Amino acid sequence: MDILRSVKAYLEMQKGSGVSEYLFSAKNKDAEIEKLKNETMACQKCPLAKTRKNVVFGAGSINAKLVFVGEAPGHDEDVQGQPFVGKAGMLLTKIIEAMGFKREDVYICNILKCRPSGNRNPLPEEIAQCIEHLYKQIDLIKPDVICGLGKFASQTLLNTETPISQLRGRWHEFRGIKFMPTFHPAYLLRNPNDKKLVWQDMKNIMEQLDVQG
Ligand code: URA
Repeated sequence: MDILRSVKAYLEMQKGSGVSEYLFSAKNKDAEIEKLKNETMACQKCPLAKTRKNVVFGAGSINAKLVFVGEAPGHDEDVQGQPFVGKAGMLLTKIIEAMGFKREDVYICNILKCRPSGNRNPLPEEIAQCIEHLYKQIDLIKPDVICGLGKFASQTLLNTETPISQLRGRWHEFRGIKFMPTFHPAYLLRNPNDKKLVWQDMKNIMEQLDVQG
């Protein structure tokens, strides 16, 4: 009881200094993300809920300055419940590490949280039901930069049909946050010559975040 009283007195003393507000808001952010995760895990809004093995909510630091957004979970992601853990994910991890980060330093998620069967493209009605989860995720994390992985994620979030080859390499904006589209790692596995273009985009992001690789 004494301990509780002194913690309370200490926090009262810190009021206005920004310390207690910081502690409370950090705790709030954890709780809000946890609440959103629980809601997303229980989601039954579209037919993918019937075929999924796992909901793939997202992974990484909720205080990340950089968020990567992909399309939708594939087979490996569906089985493990984690984003980008298959072959394309291994390449994404290499890219993240070449930027000087660990996977845990950034945040990785997808437009769709459940796997469309047979790796088909997400349907407009699936996106319409799911996108709110991503909006809430982004609004809570508040990163400085979002990187759109591939045509699908970039075109969806920027609400455009401009080809990814024209979108990438330039800054855009999504919900007031700097947005850099780039090629999807799965595309890079088929077109390794374009890795240098992705690296240019990553260097652009690093400069924006003021980090060295
Ligand atoms: N491709 C994606 O777009 N997302 C994943 O999580 C895995 C592969």
